[in-house]
Amino acid sequence: MRKRAVLGGLLIAGVVAAAAFGWLGGGRSSDQIDPDQIKLGTRLYAERCASCHGAKLEGQPNWQEPLSDGRMPAPPHDASGHTWHHSDAELFTITKKGLGAFVPGYRSDMPAFEGTLSDEEIRAIIAFIRSTWPRTEREYQRARSTARS
Ligand code: HEC
Repeated sequence: MRKRAVLGGLLIAGVVAAAAFGWLGGGRSSDQIDPDQIKLGTRLYAERCASCHGAKLEGQPNWQEPLSDGRMPAPPHDASGHTWHHSDAELFTITKKGLGAFVPGYRSDMPAFEGTLSDEEIRAIIAFIRSTWPRTEREYQRARSTARS
């Protein structure tokens, strides 16, 4: 009896491990980093985003408090902010169309980059931002991105 239970336990452990390795393996291939894309994203981030979101992605001071005009300061894009809570598709749309794309009529200091950055350039900037996150945030955000697309 006990022997069978132990064998059963081992079997379950094996299935769980196989599933976990399969998932990690699959994840790794879709998380591949293209160095040229990151290089482009790093440069464009410095040129187009850093003035508000910070050279180190740290955001503006007191970013959770509204400014005197009622608008919000620029949040950090590093792991201390909430950028990693959004899927790739959401980050792409926010950058291209602005936050008004999600909340019509919303007044925000975040510019829409449609017409000044190509889709490829926006993807490169997001790839750069993603590459700065620790593993836990990257995995959370990847799961959200694949669930939504
Ligand atoms: C002129 C200042 C300014 C520039 C330049 C700017 N942003 Fe923003 N961004 C903001 C502000 C302010 C917010 C917060 C807006 C709000 O909540 O109303 C924001 C919000 C965002 C958000 C949503 C943040 C989140 O964590 O949910 C993303 C994504 C974003 N910006 C990406 C970018 C990218 C990518 C660039 C460069 C291509 C960029 N921004 C350039 C001011 C700016």
